[in-house]
Amino acid sequence: PEAITVQELAQRMAEKGADLVKELFNLGMMVTVNQTIDQDTAELLVEQFGHNIQRVSEADVDIDTTEDVDPEESLKARPPVVTIMGHVDHGKTSLLDALRGTDVTRGEAGGITQHIGAYQITTKDKQKITFLDTPGHEAFTEMRARGANVTDIVILVVAADDGLMPQTIEAINHTKAAGVPMIVAINKCDKPEAKPQKIRERLLEHEIVVEAMSGDVQDVEVSAKTKQGLDKLLEAINLQAELLELKANPDRDAEATVIEAKLDKGKGPLATVLVTRGTLRRGDIFVVGTESGRVRALHDDKGKQIKEAGPSMPVEVLGLGGVPNAGDQLSVVENEQRAREVSAYRTEKANEKRTTMAPASFENMFSALK
Ligand code: GTP
Ligand code: MG
Repeated sequence: PEAITVQELAQRMAEKGADLVKELFNLGMMVTVNQTIDQDTAELLVEQFGHNIQRVSEADVDIDTTEDVDPEESLKARPPVVTIMGHVDHGKTSLLDALRGTDVTRGEAGGITQHIGAYQITTKDKQKITFLDTPGHEAFTEMRARGANVTDIVILVVAADDGLMPQTIEAINHTKAAGVPMIVAINKCDKPEAKPQKIRERLLEHEIVVEAMSGDVQDVEVSAKTKQGLDKLLEAINLQAELLELKANPDRDAEATVIEAKLDKGKGPLATVLVTRGTLRRGDIFVVGTESGRVRALHDDKGKQIKEAGPSMPVEVLGLGGVPNAGDQLSVVENEQRAREVSAYRTEKANEKRTTMAPASFENMFSALK
């Protein structure tokens, strides 16, 4: 049977918790606001206060997307989402910058007008690849723990002049735990002291057998500095992506995952999201975490206004009611009322989590007095 705390019921009826406790006392029950009451008692109270009873299930007041699977025939190919991991100073950011430089859609003069936490490039052979910028291992693990497994492929960056370091091993373990395929980028190969073969040998100790050692993990020697090997790395990503047969339904209400969010002084709350399925459009009404909103504008990773964003595309969203958290799911809903309802329900649930202490049972209360 459903149980509800007196406080929660009071909030839903917009009445004072103390008034409910008083009414319960009149009905012969000694209960505090933090205690739960059963459904029959709750309904009795609701009637006493002259409200209508509305039995709602979780599915009515929240969004459950786990049951909502897209039919096979609706699925279309989508670009891979690639996360770069590795030890401090091994060249993750430099490599990302160098890869961004290979983007054929980025005009000579255009340059990098805006930095967002995720971006997409188009390779020479017209393949799109989405990169997640410096998420850090903690962010990766945290997002995964929250069910936001957005990464399709991990690129493990190892500096050839330094070898396997603690964070390299951490990255290997996180990647294995996530069950995400890995490509090893042996970086800084321009350096005279680079020893790429030694890296391959050391990787064996962690059960990573690269192709050069007759294994099945792709390894590429690169240099973010001289741009050596970048084309090979892009090829490796595309090959891996093909094997994964990544697909999503672009023709439905959008769902997306928040990569990062902040409050901008001029523009208000901003979130960079990665569309996981459907197509996000200007004007769409959505819920994201406990916040709701309406898409006022969409910007791509070059700061350009766009009208819509499909699967695997990172976009900056304007029009949020507040700042969501990284890893929060954004879901487009049918109307504002629905958005408000879901966000109110989630806010209430979040507050409840914060404020309720373990409610003492009747027996506990009395035995404590003995
Ligand atoms: P954190 O974000 O601090 O973890 O570092 P990172 O992994 O992003 O490394 P970053 O790209 O900041 O590079 C660290 C240093 O290595 C910088 O001084 C880079 O210029 C240098 N570096 C990166 N890639 C290469 C490379 O391929 N060759 C050489 N010679 N230097 C490189
Ligand atoms: Mg960096």
